[in-house]
Amino acid sequence: MQIVHISAECYPVAKVGGLGDVVGSLPRFQSEMGHQSSVVMPMYRTNYLYTHDWEVVHKASSNLGHWWFDYTVIKEKSNAQGFSLYLVDINGLLDREKVYGYEDDVERFCAFQIAVANWLSSWGSLPHVVHVHDHHAGLFPFIMQHTYAFKKLQHIPTVVTIHNAQYQGAFGWDKTMYLPHWDSWKRGMLEWQGTINPLASAIKCAWKVTTVSHSYLDELKFMSNGLEPLFEFEKGKCMGIINGIDYQVWDPAIDNYLTENYAVNDVEKGKLRNKEIICKQFGLDLNKPLFIFIGRLVGEKGADLLPQVIHDSFQHIGRKMNFLVLGSGDKEVESGIASLKKIAKADFNEYIGYNENLSHLMYAAADFLLMPSRVEPCGLNQLYAMKYGTIPVVRRTGGLKDTVVDIGEEGGYGILFNHAAVGDITQAVYRAVETYQQKETLHTIRKKIMSLDFSWNRSAKEYVDLYQSFY
Ligand code: ADP
Ligand code: GLC
Repeated sequence: MQIVHISAECYPVAKVGGLGDVVGSLPRFQSEMGHQSSVVMPMYRTNYLYTHDWEVVHKASSNLGHWWFDYTVIKEKSNAQGFSLYLVDINGLLDREKVYGYEDDVERFCAFQIAVANWLSSWGSLPHVVHVHDHHAGLFPFIMQHTYAFKKLQHIPTVVTIHNAQYQGAFGWDKTMYLPHWDSWKRGMLEWQGTINPLASAIKCAWKVTTVSHSYLDELKFMSNGLEPLFEFEKGKCMGIINGIDYQVWDPAIDNYLTENYAVNDVEKGKLRNKEIICKQFGLDLNKPLFIFIGRLVGEKGADLLPQVIHDSFQHIGRKMNFLVLGSGDKEVESGIASLKKIAKADFNEYIGYNENLSHLMYAAADFLLMPSRVEPCGLNQLYAMKYGTIPVVRRTGGLKDTVVDIGEEGGYGILFNHAAVGDITQAVYRAVETYQQKETLHTIRKKIMSLDFSWNRSAKEYVDLYQSFY
């Protein structure tokens, strides 16, 4: 099948979070299954662009309301990612260093989607399925099905994958002129609660809707930032498909970012070597269990609770553990975490910012990964951590609940807690410290989690089965 993924992120071209990881790996697995899989994304000015060779495959112009723009589509020449990678350039809108966070993001992503529709319409043989990811590509199913200009695309099956329904990309009707002409009675296919809501529109228009775990889909019916009735109404076309991870990138046996590579048979030695490096770099005590947090410092991830959790852990459990936080996000959360340094002495450190290299080293060095997420559609961190023999300490929600089994249950290998609340999390830290002291149990769990299979093999096939159900 000819599969086209449309996304704002794709690792290693541009990544902000897990969306990038998924779109950077799922298409390769689909290609390996014998399909022609491709990714189309904006041409940001990231390092990847300057370090690869490209060929121009299409040049044309289109319009965003009254504004006419030229666009260019380029293709990576060597198939380096294992799928066809196309970048769309629109001068003045997409030629930026960052993926999101600009005042004109609405204009940027509308123009991007229009350019992609314009380009796809010029194809001699159309794709068998268009798979869009999150709200940045959420207007695409509407554009394909309901705009006059892109009628040629209207019968192509569409899938939307919701990686995170917290972000919906809503904007006012005053910007309706950005969309190519459509029959005004179709307004309902764009609207949610008085605005144009790209994520809601995708849920209404796409042939199928997937979420990145089963439990997250259940939760969305009760908690989806205002879309609850829509998920209930459209439940017939929704399904959960858990993310996989890419063991070509995330495997301690071959990971170039690590100080020492290791596998199941030498996990203790390998982890210790990496822990030595991290402890030295961040002034932490090698002999205490190391808890890490890696992620966006936002409420959704429960990052605002970390200062109090760390404070209470020291107070109630004692100075028996180290914490290291890597992330960036809300300024208030960042400063709350930074202020811990005063009280924590040598048992806590932080790195505010994004650092892919350090994240790999931390997964390898740590004993426990803390994820107190309020919302976690899938979560990749816990899957990476487990491959590196690091025990996940996670809230029982979304994809965390679907991938981690508590050590108190038969065959369990992680530590779960119910609420994103300081008391519950501190109690889980206590359980982890207790586990750390039982060296034999610790070793058995490490070996077990490193051997679990969270690869894409099964999930990539589930997506293909879904596409094939359209034919
Ligand atoms: P989300 O997409 O909601 O941020 P995920 O768990 O799906 O959460 O994926 C997060 C991805 O981003 C992981 O690959 C994680 O290692 C990475 N990541 C998050 N914050 C940072 C950071 N500050 N530095 C390096 N990598 C980060
Ligand atoms: C989102 C979610 C995260 C998920 C990722 C990839 O950003 O917050 O839980 O793992 O997308 O699907």
